[in-house]
Amino acid sequence: MAIRNIREIGEEVLTKKCKMVTEMTPRTRELIEDMLDTMYEANGVGLAAPQVGILKRIVVIDTTGEDPHILINPRIVESSGEQTGQEGCLSVPGKTGQVTRPNYVKAVALDVNMKEYELEGTELLARAICHELDHLEGHLYVEKAEGPLQDTVMEDEEEE
Ligand code: NI
Repeated sequence: MAIRNIREIGEEVLTKKCKMVTEMTPRTRELIEDMLDTMYEANGVGLAAPQVGILKRIVVIDTTGEDPHILINPRIVESSGEQTGQEGCLSVPGKTGQVTRPNYVKAVALDVNMKEYELEGTELLARAICHELDHLEGHLYVEKAEGPLQDTVMEDEEEE
């Protein structure tokens, strides 16, 4: 278990297209474990491998805090509807922006055993899937944000 350093906007690694994962190795398993630890530590709902500096097509998502999804080589195969709302990113700390996304998506991905499965989501989960998959193409939500980014209003003191 290890917390990795989260890369921030302006770093080149966040603008690169990621490579397909062709086999599961101990090193990749460790990366996935570390990505989950790093996401939970940062109170995020999703994290993509390039955000910890690794250009592999791997994403972790957990929108409820108790339902981690690991998506390897994910792709969206179906989407419908529309939702517009505030979106943030661990690589763009302290900011949010308004982004329109599909309200429903279905993704196909590999799990940690390299077995294909489907993940369907609406609302926040659909938004997270779209957001994280964009990272794998080297795109950040700020490119899609409508209007200026806003500063995150902290209700409480930020925890160390
Ligand atoms: Ni992000």
